[in-house]
Amino acid sequence: MAPALSIHGLTVRFGGLTAVSNVSLTVENGGQLGIIGPNGAGKSTLFHAITGRVRPAAGRLMVDERDVTRWPMYRRAASGIVQTFQNIQLFGSLSVLENVVVGGHLRAAYPAVLGFFGPPRVRRIECQLAGEARALLGRLELTNMEGRRVSELPYAVQKRVEVARALMTRPRVLLLDEPATGMNDYEKGFFVEIVREMQRELRFALVVIEHDVAFLAQLVERMVAMSFGQIIAQGRPESVMAEPAVVESYTG
Ligand SMILES: Nc1ncnc2c1ncn2[C@@H]1O[C@H](COP(=O)(O)OP(=O)(O)O)[C@@H](O)[C@H]1O
Ligand SMILES: [Mg+2]
Repeated sequence: MAPALSIHGLTVRFGGLTAVSNVSLTVENGGQLGIIGPNGAGKSTLFHAITGRVRPAAGRLMVDERDVTRWPMYRRAASGIVQTFQNIQLFGSLSVLENVVVGGHLRAAYPAVLGFFGPPRVRRIECQLAGEARALLGRLELTNMEGRRVSELPYAVQKRVEVARALMTRPRVLLLDEPATGMNDYEKGFFVEIVREMQRELRFALVVIEHDVAFLAQLVERMVAMSFGQIIAQGRPESVMAEPAVVESYTG
């Protein structure tokens, strides 16, 4: 079976700066990959190239045997290539529930004008999506936050809402950009449990960027280290962390 995600020779340039340089990697269906590297290494840009927010200068991107390199962002999102952001991107003035329902709209596509007139079919879809969103909120221990405005919530809670919204799309490839930021130890432990459980159920490919390596090693069995846009080491977390080039990339 083809890998869920495979990237060949991906390069992203911003003017004269090569943010991602000839990166190749694969993640199996149901597999996990961790990405580490110092600030500015190109980790977030790699995610943005996978979801279609930035256009690569070179390279090829395959998802489940489909070449999505030229697909626009919305089409990738609708086919389950979704990410969370290093700087959370939620609708701050909407409630937690509303934000999660938005994730469902990505796959339950219907003309916006139908939503305005609200015929029974649309109401039925909305009802069903709200039910699914509530079930997800329950599993992420967010039920008591359902009606709260997102902008009023602590950062770590917003991070979880963002993950709930991403899961709501029924992802094929889920990219999490520094999910542990602001979480305490209990929240981190809970997060690891729930993401693993959801991955077993939904069988998406998971890629996680994270500075907290102990947290990352609980989520993934394989890691790549990036520096100046390139992959400088890959393998099991403990062996990647022990690579002199990796140590040097943080200190040098
Ligand atoms: N939209 C952009 N325009 C110009 N430069 C960018 C843009 N996004 C990122 N960069 C630059 O690309 C490099 C990689 O950034 P980024 O992918 O955010 O690194 P990381 O996530 O590993 O910290 C940095 O030098 C950053 O300043
Ligand atoms: Mg980043």
